[in-house]
Amino acid sequence: MHLSKTLALASTFNPVFSSSILFSGATVIAFDEEAEALKVIRDGALLVTDDRISGLYSAAEIPSISDLPEDTEVVDSRHKIITPGFIDTHRHGWQTAMKTLASNTTLPDYLYRYRGDHAAAIWTAEDVYNSQLAGLLEALNAGVTTTLDHAHHLWSTERSRAGLDASVDSGARVYWSPSFAASGDYSVAKQIADVKGWIKERQNDKDALTIIAAAYDAWDSAEVGETQAVVKFIKDSHIPVVTTHWLGRVWPVNNSPESLHAFSLLNTSTAVVFSHGTGISPSSASLLRATDQFISITPESEMHYGHSHPYAHHAMDQAALGVDTHFTFSTDLLTQARIWLQRTRSRLYDDVVERWRIPSSSPMSAAQAFLLATRQGARALRRPDLGVVRVGAKADLVVFEGRSPGMLGWNDPVAAVVLHANVGDMVHVLVDGKFRKRDGRLVFEDYEGRVAGPFLRTAEKLQSVLLEMPPPVLDGRMFGFGCEYARTEVADVQRGDGDGYGELFL
Ligand SMILES: *[C@@H]1O[C@H](CO)[C@@H](O)[C@H](O)[C@H]1NC(C)=O
Ligand SMILES: *[C@@H]1O[C@H](CO)[C@@H](O)[C@H](O)[C@H]1NC(C)=O
Ligand SMILES: [Zn+2]
Repeated sequence: MHLSKTLALASTFNPVFSSSILFSGATVIAFDEEAEALKVIRDGALLVTDDRISGLYSAAEIPSISDLPEDTEVVDSRHKIITPGFIDTHRHGWQTAMKTLASNTTLPDYLYRYRGDHAAAIWTAEDVYNSQLAGLLEALNAGVTTTLDHAHHLWSTERSRAGLDASVDSGARVYWSPSFAASGDYSVAKQIADVKGWIKERQNDKDALTIIAAAYDAWDSAEVGETQAVVKFIKDSHIPVVTTHWLGRVWPVNNSPESLHAFSLLNTSTAVVFSHGTGISPSSASLLRATDQFISITPESEMHYGHSHPYAHHAMDQAALGVDTHFTFSTDLLTQARIWLQRTRSRLYDDVVERWRIPSSSPMSAAQAFLLATRQGARALRRPDLGVVRVGAKADLVVFEGRSPGMLGWNDPVAAVVLHANVGDMVHVLVDGKFRKRDGRLVFEDYEGRVAGPFLRTAEKLQSVLLEMPPPVLDGRMFGFGCEYARTEVADVQRGDGDGYGELFL
């Protein structure tokens, strides 16, 4: 974009209240909307005015300070790479306090021990708040600027509200999605009434970064009256995003696009995000395309727990990435993009090698992995102003150091970010034009006193209770009616008949 156009845009902002930042000298991974493709600007500049990206300049066009709005802060960004903030389309922020407890859990073990009634019995509102806040700051530190938070902690009014309050206080962009499911005497009707009240309370806050969305996992299993009440709430309240755990195949939990379509929910203005999509078929993929709805592939989670994800690579045009239960593994989207890239390559190479042939092409590119972690997430949430660097988009940005030992020598910035960068290389993170991480450190007033201290007290308390809880005995059928359980073969890194599996250091 040329300077004249940029200044025309910048001048539409009130000069008294606007604030601008120029990242000068950076390589920018921008997006060309017309070509629908990434576009790299080398050694150029990016201007942020208030909450938006207001200018993008090639090396020859970098404006001089006198051409910029008054009080523009110039951030020397030579040798840096600027990307959009990463978008996590599936996370449970409240679970942070259980970190490392479940390093070798399976899905049924997780469902019994770490959520639902067992969690409801031990978590207080304060615990939910401390854990959610620490988790969102962990995500921001890792360049995740937008989270679709599947909040399955609706155990009482106070404990539900605590997750919303922590989301607001985090400074991240959060689609806080209360997951309706009766818990003790906190009925779905009461939950809906509470959430309606909170939406009303927040309706005048047009700049709010936390947006109330909705989650529901009982499309096939609840009394139809309950599901209809949830659908009525979603439609009446114009909820922008709805999310659900879609498994299927061996899992006795479905929530497929067909199930939601039966409630006329796919073809409205509401975005619907289906996490995992384990049971995706050609016809359900067609339904996603016809209604422009998305799956959230959570590669590390699906590999960790054993959901499996056999066909998701056939529907990447309607897919974004997510992290899921970040207390059990990585919290950043780069790791997810990398795992999914190599998992997909491996699977598609195998098709060839199993035919006793030599692969002569590579099945997936780093640019595709990058788009899954950024623009595809924004498309899933129906937010064309997120997940891309272009003039007019929200200034949700990550600035990478390009001269750390791991990055030194890069030529292709997309390959550098997707295949060589790590969270330690993320020097600045901005949300809505504001620094949330600066010079490698979170910008959060009194992080030690307000976040780390209270969080560690919560973690210590909950972990000591959870460690006393015996693991479930998994025999017979899942939930009594699903498929039968079976043991996996166990890897062994020690020779002989000893048990080399080792222990958990808890
Ligand atoms: C969704 O609505 C559009 C426009 O009304 C229509 O063309 C399309 O067939 C609908 N898709 C489904 C799956 O109902
Ligand atoms: C996890 O590891 C511990 C320690 O070796 C073991 O007792 C437990 O059975 C393992 N859990 C699963 C689900 O395999
Ligand atoms: Zn999940």
